[in-house]
Amino acid sequence: MQTDVPKPTSAFPNQIGFMTKIIFIGRDGTRYDLDAENGSTVMETAIKSGVPGIEAECGGACSCATCHVYVDEAWAVRTGAPEPMEEDMLDFAYDVRPTSRLSCQIRVSDALDGLTVSVPKRQA
Ligand code: FES
Repeated sequence: MQTDVPKPTSAFPNQIGFMTKIIFIGRDGTRYDLDAENGSTVMETAIKSGVPGIEAECGGACSCATCHVYVDEAWAVRTGAPEPMEEDMLDFAYDVRPTSRLSCQIRVSDALDGLTVSVPKRQA
C-alpha cells in the first residue's frame, strides 16, 4: 500500500544549523510551530521552546520515556520505526499507539520539515 508522505518544504540541503519546521499539538490542542535546528532532536526542540508535556527527564538518553509523542500518521513512514532500545523504553510510556515514538530519538533534518507530533495526555 502506498502512503502519501508529505514533501519537505525546504529547498536547502540538510545542514547542521539549518532550521526545519516542527509542529507540536499540545494536550489541550494548542499548536506550536517551532523552528528546529537540523542535527538536534525533536525532544530538544520541545524543551527549548517549553512545550508543555515533554519532560525528558533523562535528557535524551533513551532511558525515561517522558518525551513520548504520537507522530502524525502521514509522517510515520518518514520518521521510521523505533530502534529496539527505544521500543523497549516505549513499554514504559502511557497509552502507546502504533505511531508512538520517543522524541529524543527523532533526529531533525530537512526531510522532516513540517513534521507534526502530538503530546500524550500524560507521560510515564
Ligand atoms: Fe528520556 Fe527521551 S528524554 S527517553
